[in-house]
Amino acid sequence: MSRSAHPAGPRHADVLPEGHYTAPPTDLNALDGKVWSRTVTRNTDGVVTVGGIDVTRLAEEFGTPAYFLDETDFRARCRAWAEAFGKDADVFYAGKAFLSRAVVRWLKEEGLNLDVCSGGELATALDAGMPAERIAFHGNNKSEAEIERAVRAGVGRIVLDSFQEIVRVAHIAQGLGKRQRVQIRVTVGVEAHTHEFIATAHEDQKFGIALAGGQAAEAVRRALKLDGLELIGIHSHIGSQIFDMAGFEVSARRVVQLLAQVRDEHGVELPEIDLGGGLGIAYTPEDDPREPHEIAKALGEIVTRECEAAGLRTPRISVEPGRAIVGPTAFTLYEVGTVKPLEGLRTYVSVDGGMSDNIRTALYDAEYSVALVSRTSEAAPMLSRVVGKHCESGDIVVRDAFLPADLAPGDLIAVPATGAYCRSMASNYNHALRPPVVAVRDGEARVIVRRETEEDLLRLDVG
Ligand code: LLP
Repeated sequence: MSRSAHPAGPRHADVLPEGHYTAPPTDLNALDGKVWSRTVTRNTDGVVTVGGIDVTRLAEEFGTPAYFLDETDFRARCRAWAEAFGKDADVFYAGKAFLSRAVVRWLKEEGLNLDVCSGGELATALDAGMPAERIAFHGNNKSEAEIERAVRAGVGRIVLDSFQEIVRVAHIAQGLGKRQRVQIRVTVGVEAHTHEFIATAHEDQKFGIALAGGQAAEAVRRALKLDGLELIGIHSHIGSQIFDMAGFEVSARRVVQLLAQVRDEHGVELPEIDLGGGLGIAYTPEDDPREPHEIAKALGEIVTRECEAAGLRTPRISVEPGRAIVGPTAFTLYEVGTVKPLEGLRTYVSVDGGMSDNIRTALYDAEYSVALVSRTSEAAPMLSRVVGKHCESGDIVVRDAFLPADLAPGDLIAVPATGAYCRSMASNYNHALRPPVVAVRDGEARVIVRRETEEDLLRLDVG
C-alpha cells in the first residue's frame, strides 16, 4: 500500500520521512469530488457545506467528533446500484458497513435488499420494517437462537457457512415446520488483492466451504437431502476494497463450474448465485473505483459467458455492496486540539476523536485524506499526521496528509469517505463516547444515531 515519496512543499526538507504521502496537492482548499460526497462544496465564505449546511453550524449544533451522512448521496448510490443490476438481479446492502433504522428505511424505499450478519443487525432490520423476505442472513458461527429468530421471521435466505450449520439450520427449520431458503458460501481459492484481514476467498481463513477437494460439492449433496432446506444457490465473497475485476471473474467462473457439476450429479440447476460485495471506493484521490454499471455489466457478461459454455441457464445474480454504497456518503468532522511540529519529521495534529471512531487506519493501514473545512487557507502545505486523543501511539486517523501550515486549535478538519466501517467498528476505548451519525439532506440535519453519553457508559457498568 505504501507510495513513493515526492519532493515536498516549501516548508520541508528535500527528502521527506518515510510514509504513504504523495506530493502536496496544488490547492489545499480544493475538495476532490472522488472522495467527498455529492452535495459537499465550499460556500463563498470558504466554509465547507453538506446538503446546504455549513460545517461550523453543524459542529455547533451536534458537536465534534461526528459523522455527517449525505442522505441524498446515499439514496443516489442505492438507485445507481439497483438500476445497474436491473430487474433480473438483486442488490443486498451489506449492513455491517453501517446500519441504523433510518438506513433500513432508505434501503426499503430505494428498493434494495439487506444482508445482515448478526442477531443485532437482524433485529435492527426487522424493527425498522425491512420485509423479512428481503433479508439475507450471514455469519460463520450463527447461534441457534439467531438461526431460530431468522427462520421464524421468514428471512429470504440464510447463507450456510459450514457443514455443522447445514444440519443446524435444517433441524431448526424442520422443527418449526418450515423449509428455509439457503445458499452455500464457498471459498473459490482466489487471492484478492487487498489487506489480509479483509480477503476472504483464499482457503486458509475461517469463511465458507472450499471448492477445492470437493468440499463444496459435498455440502451441496448434504443440503439437497435435507427436508428443512431449499437450496437456492451458491455464494462467494472474495474480500473487500477490491478494484480489479479479475478476482470476480475467477470467482464467477468457479461458482458456475460448481453449478454445472451439481446439474450433472443431481439433475438440478440451482437458480441463483451471489458474488458478494467488496467493491473498492476512493479514500484518496489516487484510488480509482469502478461505477455500479461497469460492475454490473462485467459480472453479467462473465456469468452469461460461463453459463453458455457450461450449457446452463443463466442464474439470477445477486451482489452485496456495503462500502461502495455508504462509504463515500459520510465524513467525520473533528476539531483540532493541538498542533505539534516535530522538526525534520512532520506535524502531529491531534483531534477530539481517533481510533475509537476510525479504527481502520490502525487495523488495516488504511489511507484517508483530510481537509481544513471551517475556512480556507493560503498557507504552505505542511506534512501532517492526524492523530486522536487515545492512549496509544498507533492512534492515527490519517497517516500522511498535507494541511495548511497555519492550522490552529479550534479549526475544524474533516476526513471524507468514513461512511463504511467507522461508526460500525467504533469502540469505547478509554471510555470514549461514540460519536453521533447525523443525516443531512436539503438543508436539514437530523441525528439518526445519537452521541453516547457518560450515562450510557455508566448504565452498563453495574458493579
Ligand atoms: N458480503 C459479505 C459476505 C461480506 O462478508 C462482506 C464484508 C460484504 C458483503 C460487504 O463488503 P463491502 O462491499 O463492504 O466491502 N471491516 C473491514 C471490512 C470487512 C468486510 C467484511 N465483510 C474494513 O473496514 O475494511
